[in-house]
Amino acid sequence: MTELDPVTQDQITKVPTLPDAQTVTQVQHWTDRLFSFRVTRPQSLRFRSGEFVMIGLMGDNGRPLLRAYSIASPAWDKELEFYSIKVQDGPLTSKLQHIQVGDEIILRPKPVGTLVHDALLPGKRLWFFATGTGIAPFASLIREPQTYEDYDQIILTHTCREVAELEYGRRLVDHVKSDEMLGELLGPENLAKLHYYPTTTREESPKMGRITDLLNSGELFTDLGITDFGPETDRAMVCGSMGLNTDIKDILERHGLREGANSDPREYVVEKAFVG
Ligand code: A2P
Repeated sequence: MTELDPVTQDQITKVPTLPDAQTVTQVQHWTDRLFSFRVTRPQSLRFRSGEFVMIGLMGDNGRPLLRAYSIASPAWDKELEFYSIKVQDGPLTSKLQHIQVGDEIILRPKPVGTLVHDALLPGKRLWFFATGTGIAPFASLIREPQTYEDYDQIILTHTCREVAELEYGRRLVDHVKSDEMLGELLGPENLAKLHYYPTTTREESPKMGRITDLLNSGELFTDLGITDFGPETDRAMVCGSMGLNTDIKDILERHGLREGANSDPREYVVEKAFVG
């Protein structure tokens, strides 16, 4: 092999080998089933906090293997963050879980989604109901200044089977509440508006139970000192499994909230947590 002069070498390493390629800048493994990673952001990519994009890797057949992933970073961040499950026999995540800093992933720069402020009518209190990796869009939205400008109170509920699965969200909330730069951006006085309500269902923790059960029993409201949940004050975004989404929708509708969309803002919006 002949040695390349430095300029040529530099040019070669900077040429993306994949269409829509982005470079991995950080990878963090949370459990044997969960990891998060950050990638470079295409300069032209504009999105609204809470939206998702298609990302993936080149498949063995030479075709891109893509799945929908909520962008977990806020719209102002210079990089993009994603939070993913690891499925050992999953076509994409069995491979994606092995990415390392410097690797490339494919990212189609067409953000879409309903978990956006535009899809909700103005309100006083904003609820983020998440299970599992469904916390990803809310990881974006709790770092979005508009969230704090538009609401007096923001409640992030996150339900997982085990305590370790809460760690990504717990660390993020801690970071939002303690990081000086984020405090400046979101307004230090605003950070007290954010309430975090983690629960587990299959391992002992300070608060146990499905969020649906805690809503139905009223325990959630008692814990937070809320007595006036309803369509005049409350707005909600929901992201979890199909079961969770259906069950929460029923509860919200019973309380008088109606489902909204980008073209028809109302009191709540729902999106499936995407599984790779
Ligand atoms: P549970 O342990 O009782 O099934 P998963 O890991 O299967 O995606 O689930 C994530 C969390 O969501 C678990 O704590 C699970 O509780 C909870 N969950 C699953 N389905 C529902 C549902 N229909 N309503 C409320 N919580 C749910």
